[in-house]
Amino acid sequence: MLKITRSTCVAVLSFSGAALAQVALQPRMGDPVPGLTAVETERFARGRVAFEHKQTLVEGLGPIFNRDRCLHCHAGPAAGGGSGITVTRIGVAAVGAVPFDPLIALGGGVLQTNTVALPGCQEFVPVQANVVSPRISPPLFGLGLVEAITDVDIQVREFIPPPGVSGRANIMTPIETPLGQARVGRFGWKAQIATILNFTADASMQELGLSNRFFPLDNAPNAPAVAFPNQPCDSVMDPEDGPDAQGFHKIDRMTDFVRFLAPPPQTPRAGMTGALLFDAIGCAKCHVSTTYTTSPLAPEAALANQAIRPYSDFLLHDLGDALADGIPDGLANTREMRTPPLWGLRFRAPVALLHDGRAAGQNSIEANLELALLAHGGEAAATTANYVGLSASDKAQLYKFLLSLGRAEFDFADDDNLIDLVDWFFMRPFVTGPGAHFTADDPVAVCDFDGDGDLDLRDLAAFQRAFVGL
Ligand code: HEC
Ligand code: HEC
Repeated sequence: MLKITRSTCVAVLSFSGAALAQVALQPRMGDPVPGLTAVETERFARGRVAFEHKQTLVEGLGPIFNRDRCLHCHAGPAAGGGSGITVTRIGVAAVGAVPFDPLIALGGGVLQTNTVALPGCQEFVPVQANVVSPRISPPLFGLGLVEAITDVDIQVREFIPPPGVSGRANIMTPIETPLGQARVGRFGWKAQIATILNFTADASMQELGLSNRFFPLDNAPNAPAVAFPNQPCDSVMDPEDGPDAQGFHKIDRMTDFVRFLAPPPQTPRAGMTGALLFDAIGCAKCHVSTTYTTSPLAPEAALANQAIRPYSDFLLHDLGDALADGIPDGLANTREMRTPPLWGLRFRAPVALLHDGRAAGQNSIEANLELALLAHGGEAAATTANYVGLSASDKAQLYKFLLSLGRAEFDFADDDNLIDLVDWFFMRPFVTGPGAHFTADDPVAVCDFDGDGDLDLRDLAAFQRAFVGL
């Protein structure tokens, strides 16, 4: 018979400790993806500096711009997140055979609301514009992994759609592809861009006014981009971006930061009733709830062959009149929007939801969510009807699941993306010891690292790893 001695206990504990040590904590928002090499980790760090850096006039800010750094709009709850700040797209609606006009000749496409130069250099919405569409700033977590999803894995849902929906891929040619190879777009509210470098080069131009090797001419106020020195408002030679000592341009640095950002956590990882409801009523037809495996060919090992669950099909859908923004982009028509990923939703929902941020300002987070869900018409109308038909308690379960997306393990008390003494203080009374004491729907399940229905020593060992101090 096995005699239980102190040393067998220690052996058992250290065995389970070792087994658990292999199960990694999920990265918190703002962390790099696990498994980067030392060189990539350094690139991530330098990328973050570029992303957070306030551009100055001599470095190329402006002449017209929206904000002076990427961080300004991509900040919550950590660098690379989203914000409630909107950027305005403008144009003239199509009439009959005359197509939509983005008013490029009058500085259109994207409005810039600030200037570094004289007041006369301020851009304004041209009187001709009859489509003015605000767009909210999304979070950028996990986008390197989204970039590494193969085109086919997105297109399969266009060719074999779930019943009742008809998503379409936006196809575009990334600006950096030497031979003009087209790819499936996946970034932006209209899936209008396929790669992070392309998005960054565009954002550096449109948001910061930093001309670069892909967009070599600065925007001019209410006029097309023109070469320096023809532009009276501009005093810096284009292109303003250029290589640093290691040969990286600023847009390359910013791209590194965005590409290496880890995906948001989700806690509990599985087992919530709300997750079943999400699938059952049809949300997952567009907000895909199964995992994607990223391409084995992704250039960095840490981004290749990774299982991710962004809750999106990255396809365009028509959700009806209320959400049609009137602006075509690539293959996206004036009514279609990309299914936005829902990972990280916990930190989006209190700020603002939907492309123009209209689902905001209610007296609870759940009410913001409800507003966003009720706006889903068109292809989502049947799902929305299912949602409306849910009992109040089922709706509450659905919200609980939606708000588990983005929550770090053990972030129990204060929802600050940090595991600290406050979380420990509130968690301690719930330590149960081994057994089956609660389910994934219980609030304290946030602290049940191994998801076995108790808070025991194994969970506490994981807590210790997650703990960041005061
Ligand atoms: C003034 C606010 C603002 C600033 C500054 C800004 N962005 Fe954005 N960003 C946005 C908005 C708005 C969108 C959505 C645009 C769209 O889809 O039309 C966006 C989207 C993105 C996306 C795609 C996200 C997704 O989920 O598909 C990336 C990548 C991105 N920005 C990177 C950057 C980088 C890099 C910088 C700095 C060069 C930057 N942004 C500066 C507002 C901003
Ligand atoms: C037919 C596809 C489709 C279905 C079904 C669908 N959605 Fe969406 N969802 C979208 C699209 C497209 C948007 C973006 C709409 C916009 O902003 O104009 C969106 C936006 C959202 C948003 C706002 C996200 C953000 O970052 O602003 C939430 C939350 C959401 N959906 C949750 C759900 C839930 C929950 C269900 C099930 C009740 C559901 N959706 C069903 C396509 C769909």
